[in-house]
Amino acid sequence: MQTQGKQRGFWGSRLGFILAASGSAVGLGNIWKFPYITGENGGGAFVMIYLVCILIVGLPIMLCEFTIGRRTNLNPVGAFNMLKPGTPWVLVGYMGVLAGFLILSFYGVVGGWTLAYVVKSVTHVVDHFASSAEAGAFFGQFIANTGEIMVYHTLFMALCMAIVYRGVHGGIERACDILMPTLVIMLFLLMIRALTLPGAEEGVKFYLYPDFSKITGQTVLLAMGQAFFSLSLGMGCLITYGSYLSPKENLTSCTFYVVLFDTMIALLVGMVIFPAVFAMGLEPESGPSLVFNVLPAVFSSMPFGTLVSIVFFALLTIAAITSAISLLESVSAYFIDQRGWPRQKAVIVTGVVIYLFGIPSGLSFGVMQDVTFFGMTFFDVVDNLSSNYLLPLGGMLTAAFVGWVWGTKEAHREIERHETTFHWARYWEFVLKYVSPVAVAIVFITHFLPAD
Ligand code: PHE
Repeated sequence: MQTQGKQRGFWGSRLGFILAASGSAVGLGNIWKFPYITGENGGGAFVMIYLVCILIVGLPIMLCEFTIGRRTNLNPVGAFNMLKPGTPWVLVGYMGVLAGFLILSFYGVVGGWTLAYVVKSVTHVVDHFASSAEAGAFFGQFIANTGEIMVYHTLFMALCMAIVYRGVHGGIERACDILMPTLVIMLFLLMIRALTLPGAEEGVKFYLYPDFSKITGQTVLLAMGQAFFSLSLGMGCLITYGSYLSPKENLTSCTFYVVLFDTMIALLVGMVIFPAVFAMGLEPESGPSLVFNVLPAVFSSMPFGTLVSIVFFALLTIAAITSAISLLESVSAYFIDQRGWPRQKAVIVTGVVIYLFGIPSGLSFGVMQDVTFFGMTFFDVVDNLSSNYLLPLGGMLTAAFVGWVWGTKEAHREIERHETTFHWARYWEFVLKYVSPVAVAIVFITHFLPAD
């Protein structure tokens, strides 16, 4: 087995690994996407289906990714190549690197928006809207402003590159050690603020009371897609993170903690957003603009609104950064391991190329609004291709690879390498062989069908 070279990296502690992997998982997917999809799909009932997807697809596949990573100590391309040399399985690794490249290119743009809203909260630009329509118009103008978008996009990507440049232990782990606990504390403070607003109970009811009449086949598919994106699965990002883990660590409990953490954060975010939205008499169904259109209006009309706004957008930025660095790390790791590049070169070259590729996504809401491919803007094409096609396909193939090709016996041996028994091994093997690939295949095929 390859030694843990200086260029590659390692986690300094088990907690550091759990925080970093949770940092990857907890991101815009939890704070921006989860509440609006829940809002559009019947609240509590959607949440229940999402939880089932996490359990039957997310948890088993995450364990696969960590196991492959720790066994090979390599990036996704190297990992598949090492476990089944000379077979097309290596393509799953390449697909993961490509997905990481694409996701980060538009993720960096949205990360820039969140950073901008921190600055705009501090400078009192976004805390005096009379209505969500007013906040929405402001947001629309902001994302169409080429100069501003470019500045924040550049800043966000530069920040990510600076962290990953310092390496796994000194950069990523150290940043997550500070950022993740800060995020949890901020989120709790926000929840207390939201729950004590007059009229908040309506939001809690909407969020927790399952209205199953709103559930359709499409809802189930959305829930599963969200589970993938939110847990950072299907593109080898967690293979890369697992590859820096010491053989002494218990893989099953690490997986369990990361899944628990990601799910708890998503659930907590719902407990902040729905009470606030209902207390202000707004609709939960306002779609992807929920965070940027509705919330500034909510903050404007609430006591201590400016402070709450700063805290909220800082939280969103932190979550976005800890996910973006995991994407950058997994793309860089390919060049470090497979091409023998020094870390610094890998991070700078991949970071800059991804940044440049992201520029048309950033302009998709302004000057490039009318430039469409297959009827979608550049941003939507990249988002759609990576989130809806590459991730489910990658996840399904990873499950099938461990279940049928590499074999659950081998995987099992790796999981038990330094620990006691793997208690839920039989459940895992069954789910991996029969449930996850089939379930994900359904999601995937449905995404291929024309939308609507
Ligand atoms: N999980 C991240 C989020 O919820 C996004 C992500 C996807 C990060 C895939 C890494 C890999 O925002």
